Amino acid sequence: MAEEIATAAPTVQVILGSIRAGRLCPKLAAWVIDIGRASTGLNYELVDLADWPLPMDDEPGIPALGGYAREHTRAWSRKIAAADAFVFVTPQYNRGYPAVLKNAIDHLYGEWSGKPVAIVSYGGHGGGRCAAQLRQVAEGLGMRPVATMPGVTLSHDMIEGGPVAPETDFLAHVAAVRQALAELVAELEAR
Ligand SMILES: Cc1cc2nc3c(=O)[nH]c(=O)nc-3n(C[C@H](O)[C@H](O)[C@H](O)COP(=O)(O)O)c2cc1C
Repeated sequence: MAEEIATAAPTVQVILGSIRAGRLCPKLAAWVIDIGRASTGLNYELVDLADWPLPMDDEPGIPALGGYAREHTRAWSRKIAAADAFVFVTPQYNRGYPAVLKNAIDHLYGEWSGKPVAIVSYGGHGGGRCAAQLRQVAEGLGMRPVATMPGVTLSHDMIEGGPVAPETDFLAHVAAVRQALAELVAELEAR
């Protein structure tokens, strides 16, 4: 009788782009994970950059050449190396994405390369400009960004600290998130 070999579901790390005091990012990320768990068979893991303090540009070497001087960078390297794919959930800050996310990306290099990534942005107009910048950086690292880039629109009231209930407030964006995650599955299956 043929033996069935159980294979673990691929691990998708959902990386929060904001560590700001009073941030909305955890709500957005939890909402994305809920959609992913309901619509794909992937294993989702939240990665909060607030739990990974990496001093700004403190590695003396060039990450692309390998070898890290700092233990916190080696720990970050092990974390990112363990993922099969990523979702960046990020706000738009002044038409770009937050510095903390760029710093976390720039501490490493090869750990990102070759892996599929979905980008979910949010902001007053959906954060499309920050998503486009992040896509360019991901491509530069040899990542495989999926085509669909959901951009969640925040109201003035939400930006000014009003209540946010993703399940109801962001209903119009569920289909795009589902689509982006389906594309992530397809990218994972392509290799
Ligand atoms: C420094 C800063 C710059 C911002 N710039 C933009 C912007 O360029 N476009 C936009 O739509 N919203 C902008 N916003 C509003 C953010 O999209 C909104 O505050 C969002 O909640 C930020 O994400 P966070 O709460 O997870 O940090 C900005 C917010 C901050 C704090």
